[in-house]
Amino acid sequence: MLAVRGLSHSFTNGTETTPVLQQIDFEVEAGGLVSLLGSSGSGKSTLLNLMAGLMKPTTGSILINGEAIERMNENRLAEFRRSQIGFIFQSYELIPHLTVRENVELPLVFQGVRPKVRREKADSLLTRVGIGDKGALFPSQLSGGQQQRVSIARSLVTEPAIVFADEPTGNLDTKTEEEIIALLLELNGTLGLTFVIVTHELEVAKRTRRVIHLRDGRLVEDRRQEVTPP
Ligand SMILES: Nc1ncnc2c1ncn2[C@@H]1O[C@H](COP(=O)(O)OP(=O)(O)O)[C@@H](O)[C@H]1O
Ligand SMILES: [Mg+2]
Repeated sequence: MLAVRGLSHSFTNGTETTPVLQQIDFEVEAGGLVSLLGSSGSGKSTLLNLMAGLMKPTTGSILINGEAIERMNENRLAEFRRSQIGFIFQSYELIPHLTVRENVELPLVFQGVRPKVRREKADSLLTRVGIGDKGALFPSQLSGGQQQRVSIARSLVTEPAIVFADEPTGNLDTKTEEEIIALLLELNGTLGLTFVIVTHELEVAKRTRRVIHLRDGRLVEDRRQEVTPP
């Protein structure tokens, strides 16, 4: 499903080149859920952005369903990202002047889906993530946890192959964090969707059956574990 092969990445600033990721290799099977654990600055967001096709690696390859995304031209990559990749941000990134339902519909607007179909899909996903009664409200009228549920619904509305989440509970209190992680685990189980969840919190990583640990841009551990119930 997802394969990362010999991936390295450096940022260049003037004459200075800083290696941020070095020789990363791993695979995630279809329907798998992995947490990518590491302290701040270890390269998690860079790796996630590379896997989501938001930037191109210095060397190495990222395959999603057998296709090397770094080789795609701009149009193909944009289309691929719109249809195959879901992304969940720490700060939700909802559009404040659109209603909750319109936020969830937005990726389908870009795909040219008819309003009636968009609306049905958005409402069905809002129900699925537990806020079916909030569609007509604006994001600012919701709690942080509810806003992240909207963002999760939006990430799923195009029926992507894989969903990347960058510190999805980073702005939430412990109880809400637990609820959001439980929701992601449930969606992974019931929809068979593939998830990669970036976190710097051991508590989050403890809930997933596989943990990939990054330290200073290197993959230092790829562990399978029994999950700890909340
Ligand atoms: N656009 C950039 N230009 C230069 N350095 C960057 C850029 N983005 C990230 N970095 C550096 O790369 C390292 C890893 O950053 P990041 O991937 O954001 O780590 P994490 O998400 O684990 O906190 C950090 O040292 C950071 O300063
Ligand atoms: Mg980060």
